[in-house]
Amino acid sequence: MSYPIERIRYDFPLLERKINGHPLIYFDSASSAQKPLMVINCERDFYRFHYAAVHRGIHTLSVQATQKMEIVRKKVAQFINAASMEEIVFVKGTTEGINLVANSFGSHFLQPGDSIIITEMEHHANIVPWQILAKKYKLNLKVWPLQIDGTLDLKKLAGLIDVSCKLLAITQVSNVLGTVNPLCDIISCAKLQAPNLRVLVDGAQAVMHQKVDVQSMNCDFYVFSAHKLYGPSGIGILYGRRELLKEMPPWEGGGGSMIKQVSLSSGTTFAESPWRFEAGSPNIAAIIGLGAAIDYVNSISLEAIYHYEKSLMQYTLESLRNVPKIKIYGPINRIGVIAFNLGEHHAYDVGSFLDQYGIAIRTGHHCVMPLMEFYNVSSMCRVSLALYNTKKEVMQLVTALQRIYQLLG
Ligand SMILES: Cc1ncc(COP(=O)(O)O)c(C=O)c1O
Repeated sequence: MSYPIERIRYDFPLLERKINGHPLIYFDSASSAQKPLMVINCERDFYRFHYAAVHRGIHTLSVQATQKMEIVRKKVAQFINAASMEEIVFVKGTTEGINLVANSFGSHFLQPGDSIIITEMEHHANIVPWQILAKKYKLNLKVWPLQIDGTLDLKKLAGLIDVSCKLLAITQVSNVLGTVNPLCDIISCAKLQAPNLRVLVDGAQAVMHQKVDVQSMNCDFYVFSAHKLYGPSGIGILYGRRELLKEMPPWEGGGGSMIKQVSLSSGTTFAESPWRFEAGSPNIAAIIGLGAAIDYVNSISLEAIYHYEKSLMQYTLESLRNVPKIKIYGPINRIGVIAFNLGEHHAYDVGSFLDQYGIAIRTGHHCVMPLMEFYNVSSMCRVSLALYNTKKEVMQLVTALQRIYQLLG
């Protein structure tokens, strides 16, 4: 069956906008994706017809809202093939999910002298929490170095791992290079060398492009944000292996579903995981919207999305090579994003020029300053491809970039 691109574009009303007199060409979905009507309507209907505070409410609306929220937990578990819905924690996003693991797992399982390994391609969200933790608990933070082609060498990981290594925190897909890390190989190799090593996978740039299976990957934690998966902002998922979550202490305290009993004399006992990690009132409408985003992606199928985007990526890479003085970073086999620079022009200038033609790209350090340092640049331009982009849009981008060369050299 052919990919229903026209119908898909129709599902995203914002794509009809004009920017600076031109039809919008949105190539910034890796920062945050546009939302289909199905997600917008679902959130609106929830507020319009079903809204109430969740958990422990006795009235009908509250019970129904709680059920709807817990159905999404189950849906997320199926989406990433978790063994159980109790392995799914609602968080604000990828960043909060990583901070939860750093604070809860880190404070409970790590001792001074232990090591954490991260890679040189990580987003700041998967660097800074570990730096803070390492300083607090006197841990060693080791860095798995990048190679010039934008990939990681498995042999170098073997050289970094020893018995002191308790956690490997690694992205599935680089948000700048589009590198797809071979996680099954990486995780099996790492755990073979250090059986007590746990692995956290940052899936922020992966879940919208390909099917994720946390069980076959054999990771211990997996995090992602709904807003990059065509869902709402302010909601994300932490998957944690059940036996680990059970042992991890809460990292934030408060009301909501996190407690069993609170006493001023004998202290607090906590609810089971995952609820123990969800202090306070949850972002219920966003959770419902995430459920709709998963339904939307499933209605097209991740397999169809993967193949469509793969061919669009090939086309984009080939077309961009026709732009004089372009330097593209990262490997040939990649997913989602293409980072580049145009001669000596600053990325901000290129981005501003493209914006005049209604073309939205991302410019700057992309929250990956160590990677910028590795390539000895202060910024890059980044085009990201999503399920609604087309070859025609890519051609318009290439024409605009060629125009920059004609005008500015
Ligand atoms: C690879 C990666 N990790 C983490 C994040 C942080 O995601 P959020 O800001 O939704 O928490 C991003 C966002 O761009 C990302 O691309």
